[in-house]
Amino acid sequence: MASQKITRVGVIGAGQMGAGIAEVCARASVDVLVYESTRELAAAGRSRVMRSLDRGVSSGKLTEREREQAAWRLRFTSDLADFADRQLVIEAVVEDEAVKIAIFAELDKVVTDPTAVLASNTSSIPIMKLGMATQNAARVVGMHFFNPVPVLPLVELVTTLMTSPEVSERAEDFARDVLGKQVVRSADRSGFVVNALLVPYLLSAIRMVESGFATVEDIDKAMVLGCAHPMGPLRLTDLVGLDTVKAIADKMYEEFKEPLYSPPPLLMRMVEAGRIGKKAGRGFYQYD
Ligand code: CAA
Ligand code: NAD
Repeated sequence: MASQKITRVGVIGAGQMGAGIAEVCARASVDVLVYESTRELAAAGRSRVMRSLDRGVSSGKLTEREREQAAWRLRFTSDLADFADRQLVIEAVVEDEAVKIAIFAELDKVVTDPTAVLASNTSSIPIMKLGMATQNAARVVGMHFFNPVPVLPLVELVTTLMTSPEVSERAEDFARDVLGKQVVRSADRSGFVVNALLVPYLLSAIRMVESGFATVEDIDKAMVLGCAHPMGPLRLTDLVGLDTVKAIADKMYEEFKEPLYSPPPLLMRMVEAGRIGKKAGRGFYQYD
């Protein structure tokens, strides 16, 4: 069956990444339905998108009319059954394999169009595990966006041994032609391309703090001024979320048993203490 142009997208989760993905889809004139489990989380997700759209207007990237039109294209629901008519669903919930598997199993039952694409924005969970939670692993693919989604132009496209070429092509066309992102392809290995390189760097910076090698501020300053990175590794860890960095490290270590991927104790203690970065107001830095 020939697949139609994608005009109806679903996004599961409206945290940092889900909100960003929903925003770029709505800005690209796509009808977007977003899932959060409660009304309160949905309201928080909508205000996250609206704050970012407001920022777009104040920086002159969007007109007021474009902001209003994008906002009109976004609807929220707490019922996955509402995703029945979606042509592409992008899952962006917490980096937890069991939670994602349950969502893929449910989505597979709800999204009836066999040409619809089920994608995950996971940072590190092999896409095959999500595909095998469905009855049709051929339509499951990884679409890995980068934080902040409205700013960073990359999507990593991850195909599994089971993903059909039509599905990966449809996902790539959407990311490139509709969202205007650039696409690189990665094999289905935990961490894909970017996190396989980035995460050991972030963990090494945390180990430097832990051992008293240098201060948080000096490590960040060194990488910003010495290597022209837009932000240092500890501020970047705060941006990503320490809970997410730890979950990614755990998965990458589980897959490769590479010591550089194992989460350092300081990271574990900070997650246990709730100091999970910018989204919590406190990580390596204080945000208030
Ligand atoms: N939403 C929309 N626009 C945003 C934004 C957001 N959340 N954050 C920043 N911007 C825009 C600003 O409006 C601004 O636009 P103009 O230049 O047109 O005014 C531009 O981005 C720069 O923003 P700022 O001047 O406020 O701040 P900055 O120059 O310090 O940039 C940054 C902020 C874009 C976050 C930049 O520091 C950066 O790119 N940092 C590195 C981010 C990075 O490496 N991300 C990847 C993380 S890893 C990942 O995502 C994968 C994973 O699985 C963990
Ligand atoms: P976040 O903490 O900002 O948001 C988590 C989302 O998951 C929220 O929508 C929350 O309501 C939902 N959630 C939490 N527990 C849930 C549960 N039990 N059932 C259903 N939903 C639940 O996290 P984020 O940074 O948006 O990350 C989301 C996904 O995107 C993760 O897979 C992460 O690895 C990936 N990712 C993150 C980044 C990043 O820089 N933070 C970058 C690329 C990809």
